[in-house]
Amino acid sequence: MTSKIKTRVTEILGVEHPIIMGTMGQQSNAEFVAAAANAGVFACLASVMSRTSQELRDEIKKTKSLTDKPFGVNVNLFPMLSPVDPAEYTDATIEEGVPVIETSGRSPEHLNTWSSASRKPTSR
Ligand SMILES: Cc1cc2nc3c(=O)[nH]c(=O)nc-3n(C[C@H](O)[C@H](O)[C@H](O)COP(=O)(O)O)c2cc1C
Repeated sequence: MTSKIKTRVTEILGVEHPIIMGTMGQQSNAEFVAAAANAGVFACLASVMSRTSQELRDEIKKTKSLTDKPFGVNVNLFPMLSPVDPAEYTDATIEEGVPVIETSGRSPEHLNTWSSASRKPTSR
């Protein structure tokens, strides 16, 4: 079924439906995100599920193998939840060609990555 609802969300994110799946640590893995993407909604991988940036790269590659639709990566900035520098996750995400990074936990403004990435941060 093709959605007739066109909004800035569908336009900016390139999805069929104006729906953004809430990222869930412990749930938002490659299979989950690809299923959402294939259903025409936007979803993000949860970085908190990857213990290293290499694990995140692997999860991104796996997601790409399951869908050709757009998806993003949610980078958790809570220091207690993330033993790795979050910039490693944002660098990995950008280098793997994922077009959207969503952050949570605190303001992303301290991440130097943004200035070199020519991308607009969205935080929640
Ligand atoms: C089990 C669970 C895990 C979540 N993990 C994350 C997370 O890793 N990153 C994040 O930004 N939000 C996380 N959230 C928040 C959700 O993405 C969402 O913002 C929240 O559930 C409110 O959504 P709602 O307004 O649709 O109810 C989590 C929520 C739940 C229930």
